[in-house]
Amino acid sequence: MEHVIADPLGTRRVVVTGAGGQLGAALLEAFPGARGLTRADWDVTAPPPADLAGAVDLVLHTAAWTDVDGAEADPQDAAAVNVGGTQHVAELGAPLVAFSTDYVFDGRKREPYVESDPPNPQSAYGRTKLHGEAAAGEEAWIVRSSWLFGWTSRNFVRTMLALGAERDEVAVVDDQRGSPTFVGHLAAAARELVDAGAPYGVWHLAADGECTWAELAEAIFEEAGLDCRVRRITTEELGRPAPRPAYSVLRSERPGAPVLPHGRAGLRDCLNRIAARRS
Ligand SMILES: NC(=O)c1ccc[n+]([C@@H]2O[C@H](COP(=O)([O-])OP(=O)(O)OC[C@H]3O[C@@H](n4cnc5c(N)ncnc54)[C@H](OP(=O)(O)O)[C@@H]3O)[C@@H](O)[C@H]2O)c1
Repeated sequence: MEHVIADPLGTRRVVVTGAGGQLGAALLEAFPGARGLTRADWDVTAPPPADLAGAVDLVLHTAAWTDVDGAEADPQDAAAVNVGGTQHVAELGAPLVAFSTDYVFDGRKREPYVESDPPNPQSAYGRTKLHGEAAAGEEAWIVRSSWLFGWTSRNFVRTMLALGAERDEVAVVDDQRGSPTFVGHLAAAARELVDAGAPYGVWHLAADGECTWAELAEAIFEEAGLDCRVRRITTEELGRPAPRPAYSVLRSERPGAPVLPHGRAGLRDCLNRIAARRS
């Protein structure tokens, strides 16, 4: 369905859920004037607060259970947030951008996943996110992205910066390939999608390029000037509870899909943001 926006956001009341998270922070910059809601403002496992009813024109829904390993032990609570929460957001009756993940795929492909590829999540987190996509309703852009990093919150880049400053060597998985995506670039692409009045449905929006976690760690140390070696290990050696796709690079096959910069450019932008916060 074509969604035409006569007034591209000018007077629209935009709400960001999960505003305390890394993508939430980036969206608040890409959509100036948007109202950020943290978990304290609205725990999305509960129905929408009365003051939001009829008072929202667009929801950017990032609130989620993002603890991939924790979801294996606690799938019901993860589903309460990722499925029930998304359903509550949809109940607001406003168009929404619902963010989803490359972990809806099983990782058996060896070329980028496009929107028409059948999902087959292997983890509890991936299953809850896939069901969350369905719960977003028909007036929704389902934006799948991957391996997010930003200047706030817990993420791989910030973890590696901390470890790289303390240690001579870190062990990092080298048998999972994905597209590390800077939240600033994803937020700008989401804005482009909405402003263009793109059709609702699934959109793959991830950084250009691909690498393994070990290669990403090496890039982080190189860009940050940290003298830390990366010891390449396997997923099996790391032994985390949740299975992760061995390959989950995302590309869009849809006409007019926003194109994101390369992940390496995103890494540089992210490191600059982190450095600016420290100075
Ligand atoms: N991180 C990735 O690599 C990645 C990759 C692909 C897709 N995604 C998706 O992108 C979106 C944003 O992820 P992110 O990386 O920005 O995650 P994040 O930094 O973990 O932020 C998620 C936010 O959701 C909040 N939240 C959790 N449970 C909530 C609840 N019941 N009610 C309201 N808020 C709640 C969290 O609040 P607390 O801090 O209080 O817990 C946190 O501020 C998510 O939908 C995620 O599934 C993430």
